[in-house]
Amino acid sequence: MNKEFTPAKDVSLALFDRLESEVRSYVRAFPVLFDRGIGTTLIAADGREYLDFFGGAGALNYGHNNPAFKRALLDYIERDGIVHGLDLATSAKKAFIEAFEQYILKPRGLTYKLQFTGPTGTNAVEAALKLVRQVTGRSNIVSFTNSFHGVSAGALAATGNKEFRNAAGFPLANVTSLPYEGYLGASVDTIDYFEKLLDDPNSGLDKPAAVILEAVQGEGGINAASVEWLQRLRDLTSRHEILMILDDIQAGVGRTGKFFSFEAAGIVPDIITLSKSLSAIGTPMALVLIKPELDVWAPAAHTGTFRGNNYAFVTARAALEAYWSDSKFEDEIARKSAILAEEL
Ligand SMILES: Cc1ncc(COP(=O)(O)O)c(C=O)c1O
Repeated sequence: MNKEFTPAKDVSLALFDRLESEVRSYVRAFPVLFDRGIGTTLIAADGREYLDFFGGAGALNYGHNNPAFKRALLDYIERDGIVHGLDLATSAKKAFIEAFEQYILKPRGLTYKLQFTGPTGTNAVEAALKLVRQVTGRSNIVSFTNSFHGVSAGALAATGNKEFRNAAGFPLANVTSLPYEGYLGASVDTIDYFEKLLDDPNSGLDKPAAVILEAVQGEGGINAASVEWLQRLRDLTSRHEILMILDDIQAGVGRTGKFFSFEAAGIVPDIITLSKSLSAIGTPMALVLIKPELDVWAPAAHTGTFRGNNYAFVTARAALEAYWSDSKFEDEIARKSAILAEEL
């Protein structure tokens, strides 16, 4: 029996049209049968090569099949390392947590606890939203115009996009959408507006448990909040005892040049959600970082079968060691960004 994967000879997409749900989306924009990925190159089944600007929608910040993680994963599989672990303790998970503390948390003076949720970004957002409601006893959440936080009910309520919202089939409640920086034009200060709503008991805004935001909005068009806006939002939320969830699922893990997208602002969110490129090679993984005093979860209050994707722990740890154990990677991104900015 041939154990190797044999690529399709017929490169037509008719099978997908016939049998895969109409819900498919990206394949409509890229109607190609992809077969292999190496670094920044996608290779189609017909042998054509494509420069991959899509990058797994932010899930492949380090490229396809990066040798640093591929080797680590192959070695782990070879030695029959645990694959599925729910939230059991495994050596792969321990090694990831150690590396995350050593390379990400400690150098930044951060003390978050780690919650592994189901493997998608949406899973992490759902957990974060539940937790802030438990901590504060408030149900309302403030999200921002053009934000995207996922498509399951709780996360979808905090997402702006009309098409995604319409697909819910029931009213999406308990979230107030407020204008992101610049939404009302350069002359309107959207933090002042938020502050006015909070200070005015008759504004109609129910005091939120938290704000949830992207420091750089991805799916809603690339809108980057300024350092000043982020700092003022942090200040405002702290003064009003409103928690801040920073959704770094798309903009995190080096996407803006630093590990976290908000580092330039020097703010410390109460909760951070990470996913996408965290696992480095494209294996599903999601993580919620929680300030220790907010970690009020009762044991098993939020579960999920796929919280322990050990392949993801292995590749994520390998990526932290390869790229974040010193400042070389960040320095290199800064150097290349400067060239790009100059040329543009
Ligand atoms: C900022 C942000 N949050 C959450 C999500 C949802 O992640 P997932 O698609 O893995 O559920 C995305 C996905 O694009 C995202 O960009």
